[in-house]
Amino acid sequence: MDQSLRGFLNTLKNESGELIIVDREVNPVFEIPGIIEKCISHDKNAAFIFNKVTGSSLPLVSNIFASRKRIALALGVKEEELNATFRMREDKRLKPEMVSSGSVQEVLWEGEEVDLSMLPIVTHHEKDGGPYITGGVMVMKDPETGIRNAGMYRHQQKGKNRLGVHFAEVSHSHYIFGKYKKLKRPMPVAITIGAHPLFYLGCLSFVPIGIDEYEVVGGLMGEPLRLVKAKTVDLEVPAEAEIVIEGEIDPYYEEREGPFGEFTRVYGREMMNPIVSVKAITLRRDAYYQDVFSGALEQQLLGGTPRLSYIYKMVRTACPTICDVYMPPSGNCRFICYLAITKRLEGEAKNAICAVFATDPFVKYVVAVDDDVNIFDNDAILRALANRLVPKDNVFLVPEAKGSPLDPTAVKGFLVTKIGIDATKPLSGFREEVGIPGIEEIDLSLLGIL
Ligand SMILES: Cc1cc2nc3c(=O)[nH]c(=O)nc-3n(C[C@H](O)[C@H](O)[C@H](O)COP(=O)(O)O)c2cc1C
Repeated sequence: MDQSLRGFLNTLKNESGELIIVDREVNPVFEIPGIIEKCISHDKNAAFIFNKVTGSSLPLVSNIFASRKRIALALGVKEEELNATFRMREDKRLKPEMVSSGSVQEVLWEGEEVDLSMLPIVTHHEKDGGPYITGGVMVMKDPETGIRNAGMYRHQQKGKNRLGVHFAEVSHSHYIFGKYKKLKRPMPVAITIGAHPLFYLGCLSFVPIGIDEYEVVGGLMGEPLRLVKAKTVDLEVPAEAEIVIEGEIDPYYEEREGPFGEFTRVYGREMMNPIVSVKAITLRRDAYYQDVFSGALEQQLLGGTPRLSYIYKMVRTACPTICDVYMPPSGNCRFICYLAITKRLEGEAKNAICAVFATDPFVKYVVAVDDDVNIFDNDAILRALANRLVPKDNVFLVPEAKGSPLDPTAVKGFLVTKIGIDATKPLSGFREEVGIPGIEEIDLSLLGIL
């Protein structure tokens, strides 16, 4: 398959309403996110190519991941098949393949030539600490095992050749960086910007430490990810990517980084964080820069999609009859989780809810419903709460459990009160719901209505 971002843009060009191309010059400071947000509010939620961005010669792509339909398109399936397809392919890991050359290295800026201001790095929100690279996948190697680890981390632009980086305490990158600290060695890193959506999704997959996310990318793609050796660090990067930033992180130096508009649509606070010293940038001759609209729908759905797979697989051990999981954007695709189960025993839904809490510390509310409720529809969930829930018996609180430090309600850093809601019907029987006999056979076109 075409493993590039531009290949996927071609797919989008053939889908009505999925890609908007803007030729007028636009400003990377607030204007780009402003245009996208306004379009979404006018029901024009497309991916965007901005061909002319003030201050840079590179075109910019954004908002690729802001719809489940587009994410499904990347997998080559319909939206309804997204969760099941992702879960299945994620487990079919394939080792990557080294190739001798790649278009991502057509151009090399090294040493003094490096200048991050050549890239159209976006400032998304009013109080962000500055421009942030939000569409980068960073790869590093565990210094003890040599196994690669990849993930997305925000990168604040700090001058010509320095980037702030934030590794959350729960991330594998934080754990690996800790090993470099103990060894008193700088950590070599490479940041890929602009790749096929499946590259991003695979690198965000929740696999255990010691599993190379590039293999998950291969599983999602159905073929090995093609890699080239980076030019100045001992790491491998996707051959068909648009841009790669190579550098290293001094384990002993930190600087102020942030604030930053987070997936909660609330600012994350300024903090002390390490710095990537950029050694080289490689890119295609006609490279696209890829932005991920942070603090917005795109970041919510991109990070949320692999989480659904992880939660499903863990809950399935506790409750084999789980049907599907969904976390809606209204809950940041992290904090509110809907579970559909085919309940066999009373109490089973509550166990499944506890399994979600144990699996994903970010989740704050879990609503379990029967398999006849459409968990992708907030109204259907509210109807289940209205009609089927007995709050006295089936709502429980877990005060001050481990939550997300980015949860605006967190106390003492990350403690969050969780609520489990079992809105399944009792197995002993339930009031019959209304039905209209013969509705399936009614043909509205025969009545001249449709
Ligand atoms: C757009 C976006 C930005 C993210 N920014 C960060 C970040 O700055 N720091 C972080 O630790 N995780 C961030 N994440 C989440 C991590 O990428 C994700 O948890 C990943 O699985 C971490 O990989 P690791 O555990 O292998 O290090 C971000 C996710 C997305 C989608």
